[in-house]
Amino acid sequence: MSKASARQIIPDPLPGERPRMLTGDTPTGKLHLGHYVGSVRRRVELQERYESYILIANMHAFTTRSEDPAAIRADTLEIVRDYLAMGLDPSKCAIFLQTEVPAISELTYLFAMLLPFNRVMRNPTLKDEIRVKGLGENYSFGFPLYAVGQTADILAFRAHAVPVGEDQIPHIELTREVARRFNQLYCGVDPHADDAEHEKLGGVFPVPAADVGAVGRLVGTDGTNKMSKSLNNAIFISDTHKQIKKKLGQLYTGRQSMDEPGDVTNALFDYVRTFIPDPERVKELERRYAAGDDIGDGHVKMEVADAINELLEPMRERRAAYEGDDAKVIDILREGTRRANEAAEATLSRAKEAAGLRFWPRRLEIG
Ligand code: TRP
Repeated sequence: MSKASARQIIPDPLPGERPRMLTGDTPTGKLHLGHYVGSVRRRVELQERYESYILIANMHAFTTRSEDPAAIRADTLEIVRDYLAMGLDPSKCAIFLQTEVPAISELTYLFAMLLPFNRVMRNPTLKDEIRVKGLGENYSFGFPLYAVGQTADILAFRAHAVPVGEDQIPHIELTREVARRFNQLYCGVDPHADDAEHEKLGGVFPVPAADVGAVGRLVGTDGTNKMSKSLNNAIFISDTHKQIKKKLGQLYTGRQSMDEPGDVTNALFDYVRTFIPDPERVKELERRYAAGDDIGDGHVKMEVADAINELLEPMRERRAAYEGDDAKVIDILREGTRRANEAAEATLSRAKEAAGLRFWPRRLEIG
């Protein structure tokens, strides 16, 4: 495999410091179960131990949707509602707007100087996106720049861990290269230093690592493709029990009758293993399905639908508290962004100092 897939090890924080995590999403619409099991569930765990920053990449949203600012704005507030519903707690993590943290833009410009243009374009996730979205040669200058911007999103918080889905690994690899290069050029870190040692050796930036969730990829209700809003195969966390049952009803397994031995590696059983909480019950279902022991797809789907519904019920309740109340959501963002700016300004100041760009202290009034 390529260098990009070499294992990334989460570095330890300096003695006496809490480890930091930064992650985020581009606002593209409501979040679905794939987002939850792939990444958000992990963040909910990590917020207990890490100094946590959750970024809403509303500037990145403009890379492919610049003609639709109203939709981006609406999606930005929706994603906060979904985060809160899924259990991210604003007293434990700073949920913030990318566009209101100026240090991120400034670091993007600086980091763009440390990366060969060809290196940026060699990013497989960018290439995939160009292909999947049919961009051809017609993408903006800002499109590849977003990958550089993502390195700044992460490094502005001097993050150690970046909980993300598998597709983001190339971006984290680029971030690691920027961190190493900066520390070597401006902080005197030895080019042969171990990645895990950079902060201890005086580097401004830890070399951060991706922390990929247990379910890197949840299949959609079409039974084949990755769950995705645009493929119309997603269960949204705001879906009702009835909608969940209907969507699962469409999941085709090809099995004809309940006496026929079933294949427990099919998509339906991925759902069984992901969502039915009792491992004994999962084993029992697998055994009976495989044996064709009088158990139909319809029955299994009902049990899965009930389990998903139980998972989503408290989320729907939490979400309801923020429905239709933009002011409440914006207040949460504002406080999160204030905290994010404190951290990012401190990093920028250190980075400028190291690179000989700091001539006097600056004080920005933000928020
Ligand atoms: N590129 C990510 C996505 O499309 C969103 C993102 C932007 C992000 N900045 C980030 C993720 C920093 C992790 C860290 O989902």
